[in-house]
Amino acid sequence: MSKIKTAFFCQSCGTQYAKWQGQCNACKAWNTIVEELIQKPEKSDWKSSTAQVKRVAVPLRINEIDTSKEPRLDTFDAEFNRVLGGGIVPGSLTLLGGEPGIGKSTLLLQIALKLPYKTLYVSGEESQKQIKMRAERIHSSNTNCYILTETKTQHIFRQIEELEPDIVVIDSIQTLHSDYIESSSGSISQIKECTTELIKFAKETATPVLLIGHITKDGNIAGPKILEHMVDTVLQFEGDRNHVFRILRAHKNRFGSTNELGIYEMQGSGLREVSNPSELLISKKDEELSGNAIAATLEGMRPLMIEVQALVSTAVYGTPQRSATGFNAKRLNMLLAVLEKRAGFRLGAKDVFLNITGGITVDDPAIDLAVVAAILSSNEDEPLQKDICFAAEVGLSGEIRPVQRVEQRILEAEKLGFSTIFVSKYNKISLKNTKIKIQLVSKIEDLADFIV
Ligand code: TYD
Ligand code: MG
Repeated sequence: MSKIKTAFFCQSCGTQYAKWQGQCNACKAWNTIVEELIQKPEKSDWKSSTAQVKRVAVPLRINEIDTSKEPRLDTFDAEFNRVLGGGIVPGSLTLLGGEPGIGKSTLLLQIALKLPYKTLYVSGEESQKQIKMRAERIHSSNTNCYILTETKTQHIFRQIEELEPDIVVIDSIQTLHSDYIESSSGSISQIKECTTELIKFAKETATPVLLIGHITKDGNIAGPKILEHMVDTVLQFEGDRNHVFRILRAHKNRFGSTNELGIYEMQGSGLREVSNPSELLISKKDEELSGNAIAATLEGMRPLMIEVQALVSTAVYGTPQRSATGFNAKRLNMLLAVLEKRAGFRLGAKDVFLNITGGITVDDPAIDLAVVAAILSSNEDEPLQKDICFAAEVGLSGEIRPVQRVEQRILEAEKLGFSTIFVSKYNKISLKNTKIKIQLVSKIEDLADFIV
């Protein structure tokens, strides 16, 4: 067995060092030097000569390559399948990121328990007993699901060789560590090495691997950016921990689109798939309240009706406060400036608070018009009609701009019983015989005339 050799490399310019140091002498960058393996022992972690190898790559002529659909493993979870683009691709690495406590472990355990294949759930975070208790909470048991609590990759691979699972879940990549690197678990070089070993295993045996990854305070997956480049799919599980909704998005997907979206509801007994989210997100109230407006947004390919709440009040202190939850604060400031300039509203001396209900975050620009309507309604203390909704972007000069796939939004609004939808005059709409009234508007001033 040959010796393991490691060296330290600057991640920004590539200069090699024998020892760690804080600043790179060559490019002067700080904290960019990390340890990397330069020579592995001959008997490597995952040998390609084992009997387990199910797929060995051979060169093929391009016209011999079979383009028929990649076989995919059904996860028996419609939302998860949709986000992945139809199921898990054999031999793929999927990384699931999300804030602590959002439900990553719950989601993957639930999926592991539903699968009819042999699954191995490796946890470096919880004991087997804790996982069993969680499984009991989900009310699911599966004799094909094995739980392993281990953090050393070499040990994990030994168990995998014996068990030959059809799918492997790792909770989490930050707890793994490989013998070949000395730095502690969760460090850049450990994450890189462990992921490399897992990729090698996945590709050689065509076994899919699902990885859980922690995220940092600013919302990025902890560890090197290269982790996201190495895996095939990056999923993000998000939502507000104080609310029940969880959204699963694909940030990168080598085998499908990144437009799809999965919605779950966190219940006492695990995550429930939500197939018709609009009905849940809109609170059905009898009373009409000022400052509430409903937006017909599109999340991925799915229409989603979302309630926007605004509160406009007189500023007590000199500088007015602006606060937005679930909506971009810069965009709110921009919309306020447009209202000030184009519609003559003196919002400069007012505090404005904005909230998207349900604890979700929206980046569809079509929500703009509902935000403006909610602000106007709260400012005048005049409730909007209950059964109207909005779908348009607002431009800097106060013009109401068209949004993509407006017809899909109109049909969703009609399905949910809205009587009127406000859209831009510049949207081309070829829908006929709709029950819902399509109100075309072109400027913010027009909207103000209609609603307050
Ligand atoms: P968890 O999956 O441990 O989060 P992560 O792995 O992302 O850190 O989820 C923990 C939260 O989910 C915890 O606050 C309890 C809650 N939960 C439920 O509400 N219902 C359930 O059935 C389960 C298993 C957890
Ligand atoms: Mg967890």
